[in-house]
Amino acid sequence: MKFFLDTAQIDEIKEAAAYGMLDGVTTNPSLVAKAGLPYEQIIRDICEVCKGPISAEVLGTSYDEMLKEARQWASLSSQVVVKIPLTIEGLKVVSSCTAEGIRTNVTLCFSAVQALMAAKAGASYISPFVGRLDDCGQHGMELISEIKKIYNNYKLPTEVLVASIRSPLHLKDAAKLGADVATIPFKVLSQIVKHPLTDKGLAAFLEDAKSIPQA
Ligand code: G3P
Repeated sequence: MKFFLDTAQIDEIKEAAAYGMLDGVTTNPSLVAKAGLPYEQIIRDICEVCKGPISAEVLGTSYDEMLKEARQWASLSSQVVVKIPLTIEGLKVVSSCTAEGIRTNVTLCFSAVQALMAAKAGASYISPFVGRLDDCGQHGMELISEIKKIYNNYKLPTEVLVASIRSPLHLKDAAKLGADVATIPFKVLSQIVKHPLTDKGLAAFLEDAKSIPQA
């Protein structure tokens, strides 16, 4: 399973990269707005820190606007994967990007048939938002299971990138279902590593070590 970080904060990306398990980064307009810097500068900076795929989202809504942005993003770095919303116009852009060899991450996916459409258009990644489905009283993880089954049935190469992860349990369930990628907020990455029994056990070992005779 690949671990992406879901952030536009460069300090978080540097910290996660130091853990040696960072495979890529995803951003979205809300995360970039929080970071308070121009989108292009943020993507350039991220590409310096993490050498994996970096998702940068288009901001237009028409086919022409989104395709123009997709080409601009793709020309920035071969690492850039263009994030495109799952709309009719968006799918047309995905299809054109596929023909041009531009990698895409289709975002805001909330149903299995939407994911099937994105794969048919040639998406490199599909981003189902599990946390936002949970927020609506639906089981986000059931969507991951359905998409994996459909993609497996037809050997579709689109990678399932689980987004809107809110807890370590989301990550565990996504891994059990064989999701290809999890994009994880920094806060959740920290929660995953921590366990109170690890801290308690380490404190006890260090205390006991004080009574080990010196050589
Ligand atoms: O990048 C998309 C996604 O991960 C958003 O998460 O928590 O805003 O639903 P959230």
